[in-house]
Amino acid sequence: MSKILEVTNLGKTYQTGNHTLTVLNDVSFSVEQGSTLAIVGSSGSGKTTLLGLCAGLDRASTGSVKLNGIALDTLSEDDRAAIRNQYVGFIFQNFQLLPTLTALENVMVPLELRGEKNTHKIAMELLEKVGLAERHDHYPTQLSGGEQQRVCIARAFSNSPQILFADEPTGNLDNETSEKIQNLLFELNKEAGTTLVLVTHDLELAKKTQRLIRLKGGAVLSDERTTH
Ligand SMILES: Nc1ncnc2c1ncn2[C@@H]1O[C@H](COP(=O)(O)OP(=O)(O)OP(=O)(O)O)[C@@H](O)[C@H]1O
Ligand SMILES: [Mg+2]
Repeated sequence: MSKILEVTNLGKTYQTGNHTLTVLNDVSFSVEQGSTLAIVGSSGSGKTTLLGLCAGLDRASTGSVKLNGIALDTLSEDDRAAIRNQYVGFIFQNFQLLPTLTALENVMVPLELRGEKNTHKIAMELLEKVGLAERHDHYPTQLSGGEQQRVCIARAFSNSPQILFADEPTGNLDNETSEKIQNLLFELNKEAGTTLVLVTHDLELAKKTQRLIRLKGGAVLSDERTTH
């Protein structure tokens, strides 16, 4: 099996005044193409920061991230954006939908960036999958938190990513919708072979993945295969 993601001695610090805050410290792990992984840890342990670095949304202070063998730290901002569009889907903890675009247009953005032809049709199908087809022409402010989260999920699926990073993908959903979304995530993994890396506070969801990494204070506390 090939490695889609290789994280080596990754560190992230923030400088505030004369104080250095270490958010991630010497994190190393690699992820096989097609596998599923959950990252858990208490609030502030560095989960979102780690996901952002893995996806090339942010730059590390030390260490390296390789996505599909490509070292992200050697790339320009534009090149990293191109790599993201080619390989990566990202479901943000805070959604990050574009406020001036409708639900449908938000889902169409990655498709248009890829030069896809049937952007409208594909985006509608994705909105249907997350149960929001009839809300396609609504703007993010007209949608509830859970609905925005589902638009975000449809957008993350739209470029058929090889690896999907999901930051609390079911954090704002009721049980029934959460189950539907979980099924979609695992179906995508099974049917399209999409590697799934998710961050969650929901241990039941975490246990459905093949592997569990626990973060504490920005470092890896444990890294284990999940027993099903
Ligand atoms: N731009 C920044 N400047 C300074 N500190 C930051 C910055 N971004 C994140 N942090 C700090 O980094 C730490 C880790 O944040 P992160 O968002 O990765 O945590 P998390 O594990 O995702 O938490 P949660 O479960 O609450 O989402 C926090 O203490 C946060 O305050
Ligand atoms: Mg977070």
